[in-house]
Parts: sequence; C-alpha cells; structure tokens
Amino acid sequence: MSLHHLTPDQLMATTRSVRKRLDLTKPVEMSLIEECVQLAMQAPTSSIGQNWQFLVVCDAEKKRRIAKWYRKGHEVFLQRRANAQKDRQGPPANPSADARTQTSIAYLADSIQDVPVLLIPCLRGRLNHPDVSSDLVYQATMYASIIPAVWNFMLAARARGMGSCWTTSHLHYEREIADILNIPYHEVTQVALIPVAYTLGSDFKPAPAQPADAIMRVDSW
Ligand SMILES: Cc1cc2nc3c(=O)[nH]c(=O)nc-3n(C[C@H](O)[C@H](O)[C@H](O)COP(=O)(O)O)c2cc1C
Repeated sequence: MSLHHLTPDQLMATTRSVRKRLDLTKPVEMSLIEECVQLAMQAPTSSIGQNWQFLVVCDAEKKRRIAKWYRKGHEVFLQRRANAQKDRQGPPANPSADARTQTSIAYLADSIQDVPVLLIPCLRGRLNHPDVSSDLVYQATMYASIIPAVWNFMLAARARGMGSCWTTSHLHYEREIADILNIPYHEVTQVALIPVAYTLGSDFKPAPAQPADAIMRVDSW
C-alpha cells in the first residue's frame, strides 16, 4: 500500500476530478479497491440502512460496452448544456476554464473503456418509483446514504496514489448498463460511475474556490 503522506486537509483539498492524468496503462490491484470500499463503508447512512452495493468493473469487454453508452450519455449532456446556455443567452462566466473542463470531460468519454476500474455505486430500491419519486425527503435521505461513502472511497483512492472522477453520463442509459452488468434494474438504482486508475504524478493543486464568507450565512438567510 503506497499511502501519500498528505494531511487530512491536503487530502480533501487535492482530491480532484482526474481524467487526463489517469494512468490507463497500469493495472489496479483488487486488494486496493477493497481497502477503499472498506473505508467507504465507514460513511453514515440513514438509520444505519447501509443499503449500498459497489459494482467493480474490470472486464475489458464489459467496459467497452459500457463506454458506448457512456459516450451517448455524454452527447445528451452536451445537448442539454447547449440548450441551457441558449436559455441563459450567454457564454459561461469563465470561458477558458470552462473550455478546459469540457476538453477534459470529452477526453474521459473517449477513453473510459481503457480506465482500469469502473466503480458503479448502487442503492437497493428504485428512486424513480412513483411512490417515492416526488418525495424530497426520501430522495435526499437515499442519495445522502451513498454519496458520503463514495466520497470516502475517492479520498481513500487518492491516499493510495489513485485518481477518480464523479460521473453521471452513463445514467442516461442506466437500463442498458444494468443489462450489461446483470443489475436487477427494477430493484437497484445506479448512482454514479467512478473511473479509478493510478495517477500520472501525484501533485494535484487545490481548485480555485470562492471564499467561504461569500457563500456562508449565519443565523439567517
Ligand atoms: C453530480 C456530478 C456529476 C458529474 N458528472 C460528470 C460526468 O459525467 N463526466 C465528467 O467528466 N465529470 C463529471 N463530474 C465532475 C465535474 O465536472 C467536476 O467536479 C468539475 O470538473 C470540477 O472539477 P474538480 O472536482 O477537480 O474541482 C460530475 C461531478 C458531479 C458532482
């Protein structure tokens, strides 16, 4: 296990969305993924429900089939983004940073089949079932019962020299992905797809962030 010697603050500040710096040539040991999943399971869940499942995909043919749908999902994302920009009638606030991010997102879409491990966190239950789909408390409770776990996974991966990125593009074709992976679609909701690989280099800078007092309110909105 090659832990970076990062302080907790450094670990949180430098666990970034890694795409172009994923090492597509170096296999990732399953034992490391298991360690990260074990740490993920320290996260809180509502009423200790621990309603999670983590599907780890390494098989080349399955990744190739997933990639096809991921790329189609990326096209949906691009279309929605273009429509949103038209509605706002203007370019993004920081066009050069935005262009860099979009190039990086497109690179990942092109190379996703080559990433050594694709992690698909799932929740038991369908969050779009008519009984619960408009119940905001239920939705918040269920998503919050897996997102902290996945973030733990991503922090643990970074601490072991690996990089990852939260992605949702494949969810536009969740049913097709379920078929590829034999996920019981009517009983299980996929939440994300996390590519995981060793990183090319280990120096990651904190992202430019707003000062806390710009978004923080105390005692009243
Ligand atoms: C809910 C969510 C969905 C995302 N979906 C995608 C995605 O489909 N593809 C992708 O490349 N990045 C995706 N991202 C990553 C964001 O684009 C990323 O957080 C942003 O580029 C900022 O990068 P940073 O994490 O390094 O600050 C997603 C992030 C979140 C939180």
